[in-house]
Amino acid sequence: MSSEILLQLSYLIGSITFILGLKMLSSADSARRGNLLAAAGMGIAIVGTIFFHKDSEGHAIGNLIWIFAAMLIGTVVGYLMAMRVKMTAMPQMVSFFNGMGGACAAIISIVELHSHDHSQASPWYMLIIYLGLIIGTVSFSGSVIAYGKLDEKIKDINSKALTYINLLLLALVFGVLGVTVFSPATISADMALWLLLGLSTLYGVLFVMPIGGADMPVVISLLNSFTGMAAAFGGFMYNNPVMLTGGILVGSAGTILTVLMCTAMNRSLLNVIIGSFGGGGSAAGGGAKGDQTVREITLTDTAILCAYASKVSIVPGYGLAVAQAQHICHEFEKNLVERGVEVNYAIHPVAGRMPGHMNVLLAEADVPYPMLVEMEDVNPNLPNTDVVIIVGANDVVNPAAENDPSSPIYGMPVIKVWEAKTVIVLKRSMRAGYAGIENELFFHPKTKMLFGDAKDTLTKLVGELKGI
Ligand code: TAP
Repeated sequence: MSSEILLQLSYLIGSITFILGLKMLSSADSARRGNLLAAAGMGIAIVGTIFFHKDSEGHAIGNLIWIFAAMLIGTVVGYLMAMRVKMTAMPQMVSFFNGMGGACAAIISIVELHSHDHSQASPWYMLIIYLGLIIGTVSFSGSVIAYGKLDEKIKDINSKALTYINLLLLALVFGVLGVTVFSPATISADMALWLLLGLSTLYGVLFVMPIGGADMPVVISLLNSFTGMAAAFGGFMYNNPVMLTGGILVGSAGTILTVLMCTAMNRSLLNVIIGSFGGGGSAAGGGAKGDQTVREITLTDTAILCAYASKVSIVPGYGLAVAQAQHICHEFEKNLVERGVEVNYAIHPVAGRMPGHMNVLLAEADVPYPMLVEMEDVNPNLPNTDVVIIVGANDVVNPAAENDPSSPIYGMPVIKVWEAKTVIVLKRSMRAGYAGIENELFFHPKTKMLFGDAKDTLTKLVGELKGI
């Protein structure tokens, strides 16, 4: 078989595994295998390129030592990061890796611009190179800022002026791009490259800077789709089908996820990008009014209430991930099920800090997937639920989303836990959640607070249940 056929075969295998892998990611049962399958396909396509690709003069790829050394370093660093990352820090890592993808796409464009004489190239070809540069750079700088924000190293900057500065920057980027591509004699190639690089970096930083609170996952997903698009431009540039397929899949999956998350939060994408959410920690909207009191409950009373209930719903949130309480939560739920209590987990689409966060955590603890019920299916059944146990969730059960038009989360669909007969909240204090707003639920007559670390509290609850 000629090396060209082997090369195309490796690309075909790569493309097919990407599509199958993505499909398998849609279910928790097959997601791990899907990921491995797509990674294996990517490995085959990379090896195929290294060993079978020939340039127009028939030369094979050189610099093999450099290539393998870089791959080894990347593999070791990536492996160590992935093995050491805490579940709560996954969104930061996703954002960081996404930024690396954007940087790669931008570097490909820079290398392409430097390594060939493009004086005879068509404007459309040049447009693709520069778009790869711009979108990859925006994705890189935006992802670095998103990483810093999720890691709480960078604070939101909310200013109306930023909206105008960003619009101006965007106009400048497109202006310079238009001149560079369609009137290349007007501007030197080096000048165009530096200008576009600088403007895109600045735009990426300033575009993410004002976005905060619950809108961060939307931005990460949007940046993810940018990286996919930039990679697809690289695929066009090199006429490389596997890069094109991968880029298009990432770009379209990121776009669909962005739209779905906006729908889950009842916000338009424009509203997310232009209107800032304000995750600063101020007690805006839905807070305690006047002399509202907080009712506490003891461990024993909680255990008795749950043990004698006929229907219990557990609402997991970010605090469950922080406390790493998923395993003990499963113990608690198993104990109730063994007593004949009907138990389910109420899953809010943006509970936690990344899409599917709760599903991943609970799957890790071997909670049977059918026990996880989506918010839309849980809400209608809450009025006949005896006890709702909220484990480290806050914003996703905040009634202000329903009844306080002045609240920044007004309109976001929430789990209407207050419709159940009794609500028990497991958290450490009265502190706000990610959106930085107080929660009227904690003062609701049906609500009882059980303060403490979620893992510790659930461990003690399991102990109490054993004594009943
Ligand atoms: P949050 O509103 O962030 O609330 C989590 C609560 O957990 C906090 O109020 C905290 O209270 C408690 N907690 C923290 N550590 C704990 C521990 N060790 N034990 C017990 N409780 C603990 O979480 P949520 O309800 O899951 O809502 C998620 C929020 O993040 C939403 O605003 C959402 O839009 C946003 N967000 C979501 C995503 C995605 S895509 N899922 C990404 C980024 C942001 P104490 O400090 O008092 O314990």
